[in-house]
Formats: sequence, C-alpha cells, structure tokens
Amino acid sequence: MTEHSPPSRILILATGGTIAGQMNARSASGYDAGNVSVQDLLHHVPNLPETADIHAEQIASIGSQNMNDALWFALARRIMQAFEQEDFDAAVIIHGTDTLEETAFFLQHVIKSQKPVILTGAMRPGGAPGADGPVNISHALKVAASPKARERGVMVVFNETIYDARTVSKINTSEVNAFKSVNGGPAGYVDTDRVYFVTPAAPPVPLFSLPEHESLPCVDIIYAHSNMDDRLICHALADGVKGIVLAGIGDGNASDTALAALDRAVAQGVHVIRASRVGSGLVKRNIEVSDDIRGFNVSCDLSPHKARILLQLLIASKTTSASAIRQAFEGGYL
Ligand code: SIN
Repeated sequence: MTEHSPPSRILILATGGTIAGQMNARSASGYDAGNVSVQDLLHHVPNLPETADIHAEQIASIGSQNMNDALWFALARRIMQAFEQEDFDAAVIIHGTDTLEETAFFLQHVIKSQKPVILTGAMRPGGAPGADGPVNISHALKVAASPKARERGVMVVFNETIYDARTVSKINTSEVNAFKSVNGGPAGYVDTDRVYFVTPAAPPVPLFSLPEHESLPCVDIIYAHSNMDDRLICHALADGVKGIVLAGIGDGNASDTALAALDRAVAQGVHVIRASRVGSGLVKRNIEVSDDIRGFNVSCDLSPHKARILLQLLIASKTTSASAIRQAFEGGYL
C-alpha cells in the first residue's frame, strides 16, 4: 500500500482548546478557548484527504485546563469502541495544548491497540493572524491515514512535527513551535506531501485497564524551591493522598525538612516519586538522595505531571509492590 492508497477510516474527537477558540475583546490577542464546533473547524482545514472516511464527534468544548478523569475515560472508551467494534483505523483528538501531553500519556497507557491515535491543537485561535489550527489538523489527518503510522500508537502532531506520547512536552507558552521531545528527538515530520518517521516505533509501555470508578486515585505534585518547608506535604498527608510526586530541584531533590516529611509519607504507606522541575534530563536513584533507604522511587525521564499519571494508574490497578513501581518507572533503564 502506498501513501496514495485509499485512506483509512478516521474518527475525529474534538474536546475544545485554543484551536476551537474565538477572539474576544479582552485584549488584541484575547480569546475564549473551546467555542467553535468540530464541523466548523473542519471547514477551514486545507487538503482534507479526499477519499478519507472521516467521522467527527464533539466530545467536549473546554479549555484543556478543565480536562479531567471523566473525559479521559470517555475518550479512551470511545476510541476502543471505534477500533474494536466500528472498524476505524485511526483516531485524531483535537485538544487544548496546555494538558495535551497528559492526555496523550494517559491514553498511551490504557488503549489496548497500536492503531494510530494522533493528538493535535493550536497556539492561535481561528481568526487570529497565522492561525495554526487548520494546518495542524490537516497534518494530524495525514499522519493518521499514513500506512507508516500503523502500529505506532499514541502520538502528537504539531507544527509539522510528530512526537511520541512519552517524550513530548509543551515548552513554550505562546510560540507555534510549542512542543518538543525533551529527552529525545521527534519521531518524525509531516508536510503537505509526505509523512517521514525518523525513529523506530516507541517501545511498548505497561498497559492498564480503566478503573471501574470514573476517577483516578489522588496523587499530588509538590513543587520544590529554596526555603522549602513541609507545610504542603503535611497538608497532602492530612488530606489522605495516596501518592506524592516531588517536582524537585535539580535531579529531584528538596530541603532536608521536605525530605523528612516525605519519609513520614512513606511510613504512612503513601508512594513517593522523585521527579524534577528542571524540564529535561533523567532523575536517577541513589545519586544525591538515598532512595533505597528512604523508600522513594524516581521518575527517570518522566516529567512530574506524567509521573503522576503513571503512579495513579499503578495505584488504581493495585500494582504497588516496591518492585512493580520501580519496574514501571525505571523498566526501560534497568
Ligand atoms: C487549552 O489548553 O485549552 C488552551 C491553550 C491552548 O489550547 O493552546
């Protein structure tokens, strides 16, 4: 099959975001996210694959700051139904950019299929000069329809670049080149003509069943800084959190006071993952902090917000032995 073969059946699921935003009078660049319907968005997309069988559904109309467990579960269930029962070959999710990488990471761990699921969005709303939404949707559809994308699972397509769900991060608040694979490079590129993959498919990740309840266990991220005390950790413990992810300084460190509070967390049965606020690089075991002695785990290459999701899924699936948690976070590096 060539790239010009009849395209696949593609399900588009729209959730809102800047890409579906409308300019308002708040300021010259002010807008409200999530106001434009997916049908209206598709009218402005150039180069829709002519023979593609595209079916579009509006799942939500929100800014992605309001993305939540219930919508994650709805997206995962709809995609699995489309793949298993309706013969769809690929899905494209239109999503706000702010939490797009979290949704991608979650779906990568719960969708039991390697068919392509492509997330995209935009940094500029429709109507803004140089709006990037239409071309990003066009490129996402092109990747979704490409035979080269089969068996590559969940990816992000943005600004002519294809990213793996594990490594992609939003790294800029306003530029159209807002995403990067921080601990690696892009998976590939896409333009009007072609899809180019420059890496092999990402290795398989641990898969989890969706928990029966429509929410994931409570895991807090605590951000470290100079002069850090233990108040936020104490509050989290008093609130009954099941896990704490430290967005630590440097390689996942924090003040002696904060680490002592995390020791108390472990003593209470709360899982502690050390991650880093730095934004790139690995957090490794037993470098500056005695993880083996203190009972902490490390995030390795995962950002604090992705480490949080992985810990939530582990706790929800009762996969919480020390070795299972370590394997889930460090498995690729052991
Ligand atoms: C959002 O994440 O919904 C707003 C920001 C964006 O889409 O770029």
